[in-house]
Amino acid sequence: MTRYVAAVDQGTTSTRCIVFDHAGSVVASAQEEHRQVFPRAGWVEHDPGEIWGNTRDVVGLALARADAVAGDLAAVGLTNQRETAVVWDRATGEPVYNAIVWQDTRTDAICRQLGELGGGADRYKERTGLPLATYFAGPKVRWILDNVEGARERAEAGELLMGTIDSWLLWNATGGPDGGLHLTDVTNASRTLLMDLATLQWDESIAAEMRIPLSMLPEIRSNSEVYGEGRKGGALAGVPIAGSLGDQQAATFGQVCFTPGMAKNTYGTGNFLLLNTGETAVRSDNGLLTTVCYRLGEEKPVYALEGSIAVTGSLVQWLRDNLRLIGGAGEIEAVARSVEDNGGAYFVPAFSGLFAPHWRSDARGALVGLTRYVDRGHVARAVLESTAYQTREVVEAMDADSGVALRELRVDGGMVVNELLMQFQADVLGVDVVRPRIAETTALGAAYAAGLAVGFWADRDELTAQWAEDRRWTPQMPAEQRERYYRKWQKAVTRTLDWVD
Ligand code: G3P
Repeated sequence: MTRYVAAVDQGTTSTRCIVFDHAGSVVASAQEEHRQVFPRAGWVEHDPGEIWGNTRDVVGLALARADAVAGDLAAVGLTNQRETAVVWDRATGEPVYNAIVWQDTRTDAICRQLGELGGGADRYKERTGLPLATYFAGPKVRWILDNVEGARERAEAGELLMGTIDSWLLWNATGGPDGGLHLTDVTNASRTLLMDLATLQWDESIAAEMRIPLSMLPEIRSNSEVYGEGRKGGALAGVPIAGSLGDQQAATFGQVCFTPGMAKNTYGTGNFLLLNTGETAVRSDNGLLTTVCYRLGEEKPVYALEGSIAVTGSLVQWLRDNLRLIGGAGEIEAVARSVEDNGGAYFVPAFSGLFAPHWRSDARGALVGLTRYVDRGHVARAVLESTAYQTREVVEAMDADSGVALRELRVDGGMVVNELLMQFQADVLGVDVVRPRIAETTALGAAYAAGLAVGFWADRDELTAQWAEDRRWTPQMPAEQRERYYRKWQKAVTRTLDWVD
């Protein structure tokens, strides 16, 4: 009798495997971090081999901790950091270069050149829902083909495959060079700048302009169907791999945002706010992305508007690792509480340029408003507040695009344990902020998608019934103060622009 569904969550800083039971509760989990490679300013890479190795490790460990074997699993779901691109040899499984991570800005020149063909940053917006920006996967693949010796010739000879991390893991998990499946799903594909949002197929003319051979591209599938089984000899041998979604779409699914108008905000290395817009792909006039929210099997796709913020939780890590101002991420709340307010300091973490709603790759980070009065506590506060202010920027864009004001915000991700941040978030937005009982919404969403495909869960209503509120923060800040602070933040943002020549 199968008792569980497992999910692999391959994120920007770590890889996790979580085993869920039928109630959606966590039975066991395992997690491993991987190396962040920064070869130059603005470049961020991961080792795809390390990520695959960690994936195998955490699956084995989580199953052992759950006292389970492959036969106890009804299915496994996959979810991943999106946009990060890998190119590998189909015969050997060897990557030709490190994975280029979504935060990496090296493709700035490629994006500008493509825009100069006409249309500027909006060249592919109508078809893909996305601005031409360094964030997305397609130009990263182009960079690899242009810059790794011999890569273009090998790609044109059909020897190389490309994929976002989901494809890389699925190919390896189903056999690698020995018959591995080369697939991706609609949500990850919608982040490449190569997929047509209406047909959910690769747009061949964009691929041609980007000089990416079609033979490299994976087949696009839905988010919930049996793609294949775990390879023989692996920890998941014979287990149906039946769900795959980009991590932010998975979190939206795990937060059971199934009806149009429902939204969630995930506080990870960056922040990603997704609003379900139903069967309509709503185009943004305010700097948001139009993206696929999810598609279950043969059903019609559901779309979302997304506000992507590049740097939130990773700013706390930066404070720990680069400035050593705190010993661990958990310390930041206590340090921030040592002072009453930010002392006039504002921190705009434009480390990867600015994403939504600005889309300015020429921006770089700034800490402004400094006087001798400002100390470590104020900086810690400014760091936490930057997450809340950036979220307000995307909520305002969301309200403007959708024409309706958000009534409350469902939150999840690592930073939502931070009471000070969550209260400040409610204060700065002027709406309630709500955390669910099961905070592992990303992995849960992937498990749900996989479980639905094999009948472990009956339908979305059953999943909706499992969602329960854990904690709610209600705004307490006077409106006048909220607006005054926010105007200062907006002024600080202007100080970061036009920095890169
Ligand atoms: O678009 C990037 C996003 O998918 C990364 O998510 O959770 O790894 O920060 P996370």
